[in-house]
Amino acid sequence: MNNELQKKYDFACELAKKAGAIAKDYQDQLLKGNLEIDVKGHQDFVSDADRETERYIRNQIEATYPEDGFLGEESGATAESCAGVWVVDPIDGTTNFLRKQSAWCVSIAYVVNGEPVMGVIYDPSLDELFHALQGEGAYLNDRLIEVYQGSEAFVGLVNLGYSPKMPLENYLNTMQRLLNQGIEHRRHGSAALGLAHVAAGRFDGYREDFINAWDIMAGVVILREAKADVTAKQIEGGYAIQASIPALTALLAG
Ligand code: IPD
Ligand code: CA
Repeated sequence: MNNELQKKYDFACELAKKAGAIAKDYQDQLLKGNLEIDVKGHQDFVSDADRETERYIRNQIEATYPEDGFLGEESGATAESCAGVWVVDPIDGTTNFLRKQSAWCVSIAYVVNGEPVMGVIYDPSLDELFHALQGEGAYLNDRLIEVYQGSEAFVGLVNLGYSPKMPLENYLNTMQRLLNQGIEHRRHGSAALGLAHVAAGRFDGYREDFINAWDIMAGVVILREAKADVTAKQIEGGYAIQASIPALTALLAG
């Protein structure tokens, strides 16, 4: 194993936990009405919690690995192009976070030449750390995780994401295909956590037809290492993501 990459992996796991604790403190402040919330767009909010958590993560990365690039949801990308780039969503599931719900997480990926090679997703509400380094397996805390490899989806529970950037019809068609097969769906509102939960076997699939890099890069490595079927197709301005147990791939794709 590449020693330098292993160090970065350990660093990322610690960083996600520390950042998660910072964000969680902010969510506790919400109960006291002390958090300022800005509207970025339709159904798109940002708060001091997002900005401060990302600032913390970015400062730690820049101080430890100044040669690497950075791309974050709130502060954007470093100007110069680098072989290794940290791709960060400080709080994925911001709406859940702001509505005092528990489905949100910190997502940190390390991407080399456009390919994610390590991913860390931390859920502070449950103290769950999903993590993977390419070639080394996927883990939930200390437990190795792998998706169901059988030929039939015996449970059938899929998490969907909807982006207003894509036709509503796509989303409804996906839902219809699933329902016609008796497969349940949910929309949990955190793509990163949704992907991690597919890797851990809590969902059988995830699909969203337009999504940003910071929402999915960590999840893609974790899913690949958990032997899920994963497609992150580059489209204009972002990605279309689909991840599932192999038995559901064709149905979810449509
Ligand atoms: C959003 C969430 C949501 C997904 C959106 C994302 P945010 O990220 O992951 O579930 O459907 O595409 O933008 O705004 O909560 O960080
Ligand atoms: Ca996000």
